Amino acid sequence: MKKIIAPSLLSADLAFLHRDIEMLNGSEADWFHIDIMDSSFVSNISFGFMFTKYVKKYAYKPIDVHLMILEPERYIEKFKNCGADHLHVHYEACIHLNRTIFSIKEYGMKVGVAINPHTPVFLLQDIIKYLDFVLLMSVNPGFGGQKFIHQTYKKLEQTKDLILKKDSSALIEVDGGINLENACLLFKNGADILVAGTAIFSHSNPRKIIHIMKKGT
Ligand code: DX5
Ligand code: ZN
Repeated sequence: MKKIIAPSLLSADLAFLHRDIEMLNGSEADWFHIDIMDSSFVSNISFGFMFTKYVKKYAYKPIDVHLMILEPERYIEKFKNCGADHLHVHYEACIHLNRTIFSIKEYGMKVGVAINPHTPVFLLQDIIKYLDFVLLMSVNPGFGGQKFIHQTYKKLEQTKDLILKKDSSALIEVDGGINLENACLLFKNGADILVAGTAIFSHSNPRKIIHIMKKGT
C-alpha cells in the first residue's frame, strides 16, 4: 500500500488555477489528476490538451491523466506531448485494448486501465500483467461531487486477488466520492492511490485534508 494522493483538478477553482497548482506543489499531494471528458463516453466536457500543457508547465509532480473518451488511442501521442506521465484509458472505451496499452508504454508513459462501477474486475485478467495501474471508478464517471459506491470495497478485494494471481505489479487507484470518512478504510483495504476532488478543493484548508488523507490524522 503506497498511500498516494492524487487531487483531481476538476474541482479546482479554474479562475485561480495557477494558485491551486502552487498550493498542490507545496502540499503532500503526490500527483496531479486531470480528467479529460469528450461528451460521448461521458455526458460532460472538461479539459483537453491546452489545459494539460498548462498544468504540466507549473506542476512539480507527475501528471496523471484520466481519459474518459471514446477511442482514446487516437490521442496517445498528443497527451504525451502535452506532458502526461500516466495515461488511463477506460476498458469500456477501447476495442483493441491490448494494442492501446502497449502503444502508451511505447510513448514512455505509465499505463492504467479504468473500469466503470458496473464492469467486473475479472475482465482485466488477460491484461493486468501489463498494467502499471488499475483505476477503479467508485462513481459513474463524468462529474465530481458524487456519492461513493460502496461496492468498490468488494472490487478492491477482487483486484488485489487478481493482481496476486496474475503476478502483476499494478497499483490500485480509486477515483470518485473519496472523503475523510472513507480514505483511511480504502487504504487499509488495499488501495494504493486515492483521487479526490470535492473533498480537497471545497475545504478552506485543502493541504490539511491532503495531510489527513495521507497520514490519517
Ligand atoms: C469523475 C472523475 C473524478 C472526479 C472525482 O468522473 O474521474 O476524478 O474528479 O471527484 P470527486 O472527488 O468530487 O468525486
Ligand atoms: Zn478521474
